[in-house]
Amino acid sequence: MPADTRKSEERETLPTAKRVALLSRQDRVFHVILAQQFDRETIDALCKLAEMARNIAETRQGLQFLRSLLSHKRAMLYFIQPSTRTFLSFAAACQILGIAYDEVRNPSVSSEIKGETEDDTVRVLSQYCNLIVMRHPKEGFAEEMAHALDALNMSIPIINGGSGQDQHPTQALLDIYTLHRCFGRAAIERGNLDFTMNRFAGKTIAFVGDLKRGRTVRSLAYLLCRYAGVKMIFIAPPELQIGDDIREYLGRHEVEYEFAEDIAPVIARCDAIYMTRLQDEYDIAGESKKINYARFQLSAELVGKSKPDLAIMHPLPRRAEIDRRLDTDPRAQYFAQVHNGMWMRAAIIAYIFNMDGAIIDHYQMHFTY
Ligand code: CP
Repeated sequence: MPADTRKSEERETLPTAKRVALLSRQDRVFHVILAQQFDRETIDALCKLAEMARNIAETRQGLQFLRSLLSHKRAMLYFIQPSTRTFLSFAAACQILGIAYDEVRNPSVSSEIKGETEDDTVRVLSQYCNLIVMRHPKEGFAEEMAHALDALNMSIPIINGGSGQDQHPTQALLDIYTLHRCFGRAAIERGNLDFTMNRFAGKTIAFVGDLKRGRTVRSLAYLLCRYAGVKMIFIAPPELQIGDDIREYLGRHEVEYEFAEDIAPVIARCDAIYMTRLQDEYDIAGESKKINYARFQLSAELVGKSKPDLAIMHPLPRRAEIDRRLDTDPRAQYFAQVHNGMWMRAAIIAYIFNMDGAIIDHYQMHFTY
């Protein structure tokens, strides 16, 4: 058995706490691979940092300051699964922080076509840059590569921009940031950047659709467990219900949750509804075709029965999950999520390169009176 395969199998059996420790440096997140790496303190800090960076960037001088922070770094965006938002928001985040970046998106024009393994491709990419952001169809590949670069004694963080059906931690962080901006809108608009308060206590978040294969839902469920008093409802056809591992995690963290097969009976209780598309690219034999997914669409009529300040979310891309008439409804948050993602990803990159202190100092000097 090749050493890499053996190590990977050993890691699968490691407890999560050990995996989290291996992905950290001096007790800080270094490689960004799993949502479980983020404790409440770090999530709060990243939301605050994202909000500070977007405020700072409103002026030319502020943007020049941000661009000076990491202008000595280079990044590689290795995205071999399709992406619009994650790729472009990381590219924009690099530009905001002054990081030059390059991209590999199509392995058919790289030397993988000559038989180079993906592992070797990543080791080679690491020779050109200080950061790798990666989207890959194989669960665990980003984590394996993080350890492979560590084994080469390279101090190059890897950020997981989506790993198969498993995790999408930076999407989950931008979703938490979006929910903060919804639930704490008035305070944040007044310039109150206290993200340490639990705005999720007593809130009900519903997830709808393909919850079994939707990595964004899985990562967000992990992060929501950091907020005492939150409740989750998983609305899905039985074949696509959320996995046993997430149920076990919620149970262990004493988080209240329930299941439903229709939106209508529960929507009036929801503070946020998180729609998802059918992940049929992961079908083995066209099994999605047997599912009536039309039951898992959000209509304007259903939203008419909801709370007046419901947050309507979707990681996008969408198909028919959300009625287009809702796009101009102030409750629709899915395009705001896209914008928030750019600032959250800038915050994550600044954090892993220890530039959070410089952003906080700049903000305090220019925005607090
Ligand atoms: N939400 C999301 O991950 O979108 P992309 O697939 O376009 O990156």
